[in-house]
Amino acid sequence: MNIAVTGATGTMGRTVIETANDRPDVTVAFGIDQAAEEGPIDGVRVYAPSELEALLEESRPNVLVDFSAPAATLSFVKAAADAGVAVVIGTTGFDEAGLSTLRDASETVPVLKASNFARGVWALLRAVEDAVRAVPGYDIEVTETHHNRKVDAPSGTANTILERIDSVRGEAEKVYGRKGNQPREGDEIGVFARRAGNIRGEHEVLLAGNDEVLTLTHRAESRRVFAEGALDAAVWLAGSHPGWYGFADVLGDA
Ligand SMILES: NC(=O)c1ccc[n+]([C@@H]2O[C@H](COP(=O)([O-])OP(=O)(O)OC[C@H]3O[C@@H](n4cnc5c(N)ncnc54)[C@H](OP(=O)(O)O)[C@@H]3O)[C@@H](O)[C@H]2O)c1
Repeated sequence: MNIAVTGATGTMGRTVIETANDRPDVTVAFGIDQAAEEGPIDGVRVYAPSELEALLEESRPNVLVDFSAPAATLSFVKAAADAGVAVVIGTTGFDEAGLSTLRDASETVPVLKASNFARGVWALLRAVEDAVRAVPGYDIEVTETHHNRKVDAPSGTANTILERIDSVRGEAEKVYGRKGNQPREGDEIGVFARRAGNIRGEHEVLLAGNDEVLTLTHRAESRRVFAEGALDAAVWLAGSHPGWYGFADVLGDA
């Protein structure tokens, strides 16, 4: 199994390369990053984005694994689709137009996108659905905490949690932070994004009512958990038919 890594000198890209190098089932052919001069990463050469098309043709990786930034991802995925290479996308923060471009690419090659590659987060999502079903009418608030360099807010994972809550209770109004005279209204869901230090990623769902409080929390203690999940996804995706996939497919939980 041969992969290419885009966003290779970023925090996640580096972790993906280092994690792959520790696994017997994955080899990293090359990395791509606009900061290519920061390479090589753990022995893997890193090239400028302008070289991606030629490198894909030359080394024919099975899968391109992307942890970069939305605009960059769109151009990387186009190059992969043109070359017939499958893509695993960890990058978050796409707008509707971006998501639609990614879905278009999935008509040509297999595309697997997940806002979170931690297996525990998928257990959290199932637990949240169960909990919301079990306590109808309780107030729900969602809080996520990440390192101080994270760009998009709320996190892609928080958005996935909100979708799961809506899938059980119907679509609720989301209130992104509160300030001044802003009492809680009806079944709105408050959403809070904290940014501090080097925190890898925490998500908490608070359900409260009827004199009781239930909290469900996931905390990533190392970025390796995301890298391992993304590599498991790449191994699963290699050889799949063109189409749009998620991490639930890898976990057999679709
Ligand atoms: N799905 C998951 O499980 C998961 C887990 C963690 C993070 N993420 C997501 O993964 C993404 C990356 O996170 P990170 O913490 O690794 O961020 P990061 O440290 O900023 O890494 C992103 C890398 O992509 C590079 N890049 C940006 N624009 C580019 C372009 N146009 N061409 C080539 N390279 C470009 C950046 O270069 P510069 O530094 O020069 O800008 C940087 O090296 C984010 O969207 C984050 O939310 C997802």
